Amino acid sequence: MADKTTEVRLAFLAALENVANADELEKLRVEYIGKKGYVTDLLKEMKSLSNEEKKTFGQAVNVLKNEVNEKIAEKREDLKKKEIELENSRMPEFDISMPANLERGSYHPITLVQRQCEEIFKSMGFTVEDYSEVVTDYECFEALNIPKDHPARDMQDTYYLDNGQLLKTHTSAAQNAIYKKYRDQLVNEGKPIKAIFPGRCFRNEATDACHENTFFQMEGVMVGKNISISNLIFFMKTMLSEVFRKDIKVRLRPGFFPFVEPGFELDISCLICGGEGCPSCKHSGWLELCPCGMIHPEVLKAGGIDPEEYTGFAFGLGLTRLAMMKYGVKDIRDLNSGSLKTLSQFTDDK
Ligand code: DAH
Repeated sequence: MADKTTEVRLAFLAALENVANADELEKLRVEYIGKKGYVTDLLKEMKSLSNEEKKTFGQAVNVLKNEVNEKIAEKREDLKKKEIELENSRMPEFDISMPANLERGSYHPITLVQRQCEEIFKSMGFTVEDYSEVVTDYECFEALNIPKDHPARDMQDTYYLDNGQLLKTHTSAAQNAIYKKYRDQLVNEGKPIKAIFPGRCFRNEATDACHENTFFQMEGVMVGKNISISNLIFFMKTMLSEVFRKDIKVRLRPGFFPFVEPGFELDISCLICGGEGCPSCKHSGWLELCPCGMIHPEVLKAGGIDPEEYTGFAFGLGLTRLAMMKYGVKDIRDLNSGSLKTLSQFTDDK
């Protein structure tokens, strides 16, 4: 009988060698130690044995059964390891020291002009500030001298959150926070506030070639002692000549914004049609690029700055418009289209 256990054992070990996956292993397990398996069958043969023989044979079969169990468990682990190795070998190697593949994408034209403007203003001593897209009614309107029922609100309908906050309609919404951030430096150290804050803005309005519900602006402020309109004009001119690197026809005309007094519209001659008139400039030949003005005393007060002692200018540069002019994009909607064919034509020409 001992021969029989050895025979079954050797057959099992040989079969185990050839097992290639979990399914085959399970089949083998059933074949040997399942209810009708070879090892189980051995026990049935005990009937014909003497008591003494039953004892040794029974022990031998039990040892065999344990061995089969163990070997199957080992094989299972082994197969799992091999499977993981195989999966890993199929994964693409990721080499963090590889140089980036710069062929893959390009900067969005708005990012390009934004960075260029940031560099220009940084070189003139301005800080670049980041501000959230979700703001309060106070920041977006009230602190800017636009009370609840002011008609100016009609021009800036936006998207409201359930909690009363809103998506900012203009980068001017950051002015109040910037004044509060720097007023101590202004008062205690006599350091003028010079900051720009680019950002995404939102308006609930119909879109056409020159209007979008999502666009970018770059606000700038300078507050200090004796800041005047001449300072404003100087910074605007410097910025435009640096961005376009050519002479641009500019006009300044009065404009109304509740947060500045006096307020201006700074227009540039449309570069798409050369001033002839086209859909991009609403057929006027001019494009409102950078409304600006002297900061209203109420706005300074809301920012904790004494308007008797300090004055300042503010401007709201239309970054999206600037990108359109600089790169000759005729339809504003192309910029948000996500079309790589359109967007990948622009490169950093700095
Ligand atoms: N926030 C205004 C708008 O989006 C633009 C603006 C006008 C900003 C005059 C200014 C300013 O800083 O002085 O319509």
